[in-house]
Amino acid sequence: MRKVDFLVIGSGIAGLSFALKAAQHGKVLIITKSNEDESNTKYAQGGVAVVVNEDDSFEKHITDTLLAGDGLCDREIVEIVVSEGPQRIQEIIDYGTEFDRDHDGLYDLAKEGGHSEHRVLHYKDVTGYEIERVLLKQIHENNNIEILTHYFCLELITQHHLGEFVDKSTKVINCFGVYAFNTERNDVEKILASVTVMASGGAGHIYSSTTNPVIATGDGMAMVYRAKGKMRNMEFIQFHPTALYHPGEYPSFLISEAVRGFGGVLRRKNGVAFMHEYDPRGSLASRDIVARAIDAEMKKSGEEFVYLDITHRSKEDILAHFPNIYAKCLSIGIDMTRDYIPVTPAAHYMCGGIQVDAYGRSSINNLYACGETSSTGLHGANRLASNSLLEAPVFAHRIYLDAIQKFQNIVIPDNIPEWNDEGVTQSNEDILVTHNLRETQKLMSDYVGIVRSDFRLDRAMRRLFLLYEETEEFYKANKVSVKLCELRNVIQVAFMVIKSAKARKESRGLHYTTDYPEHADTIQDTIF
Ligand code: SIN
Repeated sequence: MRKVDFLVIGSGIAGLSFALKAAQHGKVLIITKSNEDESNTKYAQGGVAVVVNEDDSFEKHITDTLLAGDGLCDREIVEIVVSEGPQRIQEIIDYGTEFDRDHDGLYDLAKEGGHSEHRVLHYKDVTGYEIERVLLKQIHENNNIEILTHYFCLELITQHHLGEFVDKSTKVINCFGVYAFNTERNDVEKILASVTVMASGGAGHIYSSTTNPVIATGDGMAMVYRAKGKMRNMEFIQFHPTALYHPGEYPSFLISEAVRGFGGVLRRKNGVAFMHEYDPRGSLASRDIVARAIDAEMKKSGEEFVYLDITHRSKEDILAHFPNIYAKCLSIGIDMTRDYIPVTPAAHYMCGGIQVDAYGRSSINNLYACGETSSTGLHGANRLASNSLLEAPVFAHRIYLDAIQKFQNIVIPDNIPEWNDEGVTQSNEDILVTHNLRETQKLMSDYVGIVRSDFRLDRAMRRLFLLYEETEEFYKANKVSVKLCELRNVIQVAFMVIKSAKARKESRGLHYTTDYPEHADTIQDTIF
């Protein structure tokens, strides 16, 4: 058993930013299910959208965010993130993060889809890697922070574990920490905490094609859902328009939107540019529009990809800005300085998640959520590119401000039981878990993708229910394993996505359904 002041689940920008601040006031434990740097943050290429240029303004960034969010953003939250963002990013710079500068020493700001200004700070095309590197270095130097890797969080501990009945009508649910599976020792530990911060990232792996690393299985969202916490807007899955088309590669390699910001043009197989037929902003329209246009083009042509063309820029410029993308393309025989890059949309970012308020507080007491796993109200129906690396440190700071006021007064009951796995056996049928995962991912890609309909969503729900029943039976009878628990989480997040999509009788942002192709008259969040 362990007991700490602050428990952080996840080691991306959200969790690490909070940990560094909270450590000034108490003991922090970070647990993460893989290596310490394995997170969506590490793979973020494009950068951080933030107002640092004199020609730019908070108002412009706010307007761009609201427009991308298609009416569903919470304006107050957008204003908070945009206006507090520069201070938080300055802290990350002060920790030692490098962002590219031009010949005059000014920040070399990139432009991405939906942005009216150049405002994306980046470090070549490996911005997330650079941020993760610097934050982890700070973490290692801090004696008040312990980081445990290969610990898989199973469940939040609430009064349910004290034998009290908890359902969605329960007025006050309290979180006292988590049960976590130590994958090296193969046993479950009880970790008690005054404050728990869920910063466990996204859920790209509910789909068979995603830009997310394999750890992105929606664990935090599923845990909070099981603990009867509130979830919001789970239907809004952002498909990145330009993942590298390379059959057999899983997950998909991302071709950053910054390539389009640098002049990249989307073309049909015959070389004709098509995005102006869909939106006056062309290849730099917001992601929902570009992904839908590519989907329509692929359906018309029967091809599995379209092309991205950046060959008009000089080799020197391409290599300076996109060394990682260049090397990856070259490794599969595509020289992006001379060849078009085949691209296809892939699941990329969860815009909904655990519902939180302006201080990151979830509906469960003493449980905060931060980063992709949370739904703050910033993204609305479609996240503006590169806003997520801004949202995470802003909310980490606000959570820190709130948590340090209260953590010393939080009482943890002393009768919380150890994890109970009596009666379960070791499974020798793990292949069933793999099969059920593949089936879930396939049905989500086939029926709950970029273009939806009632018929497809009903079909998906019926099939998912079978997989849910089988998996729950398997879970009850067998000892926990990471693969089995991830499958459960994937199925539960898929369920939330389908349920929310079925509830939204309109098309808005990333949720497009042929049955209701227009906006509804009233704007509403989907909450359950
Ligand atoms: C990209 O580089 O295109 C991804 C950036 C983001 O998702 O915000």
